[in-house]
Amino acid sequence: MKIIMLGAPGAGKGTQAKMLADKYEIPHISTGDIFRANIKNETELGKKAKEYMDKGLLVPDELTVNLVVDRIKQDDCSKGYILDGFPRTIPQAEALDKALSDLNDKLDYAINVEVPDENIVKRMSGRRACVGCGATYHIVHIPTKVEGICDRCGKELILRDDDKPETVEKRLKVYHEQTQPLIDYYQGKGILKEVDGTVDMKEVFDAIVNILEA
Ligand code: AP5
Ligand code: MG
Ligand code: ZN
Repeated sequence: MKIIMLGAPGAGKGTQAKMLADKYEIPHISTGDIFRANIKNETELGKKAKEYMDKGLLVPDELTVNLVVDRIKQDDCSKGYILDGFPRTIPQAEALDKALSDLNDKLDYAINVEVPDENIVKRMSGRRACVGCGATYHIVHIPTKVEGICDRCGKELILRDDDKPETVEKRLKVYHEQTQPLIDYYQGKGILKEVDGTVDMKEVFDAIVNILEA
């Protein structure tokens, strides 16, 4: 099963992708998580990516496409994978299609998690991410057992640098300009499915599973 998750920043792509990866035992590949791991490890890629991410801008396609194309060729991806946060531009989508067709392969579904902009800013300010394992929580919707500490690995939780309200506004603008056109792109390919992302995360998950198992 090869799936991509579409949706605005904060729509819940990562939350759903993690749950789906657990259920179907396939890798969850988040370009945002890959960039954040590189920033933490102070790699060359991390240094470059950070300049863009902190401003709420997209990292250039040249730094992003090959990363993903190499990743999906690894052995653990043979049964499928969930791409979260990629593709994010039409050129990225075209590059992915090209790479897949070279492998005689194709995507099964593009799942669009729909959440209006008004809900997003509120969600993001409450999000906390684990510095250790990348797990995400929400101070109201998904609290940890001990405040500020990851349930999974015991490390500290932080507010992402790009979750400040002014950066979130910028990310939303960039989303509407550069990523939203992918909805029509995948509609045209006949693999677009839409779910309401404003309901409880368990309900969103059930809606996605129903689509995948229909
Ligand atoms: P990335 O890490 O992908 O960030 P994003 O798309 O902005 O998305 P988020 O991770 O913020 O949101 P999400 O949809 O995963 O929501 P989540 O599940 O966490 O990218 C970061 C940056 O990296 C980009 O800005 C860009 O610079 C760069 N980048 C990454 N990929 C790139 C690419 N392909 N090309 C170029 N640049 C790239 O949920 C949000 C919050 O809401 C959480 O607190 C969660 O607990 C809560 N929540 C989730 N579901 C629900 C629900 N149903 N009800 C209530 N709360 C919920
Ligand atoms: Mg995410
Ligand atoms: Zn953790």
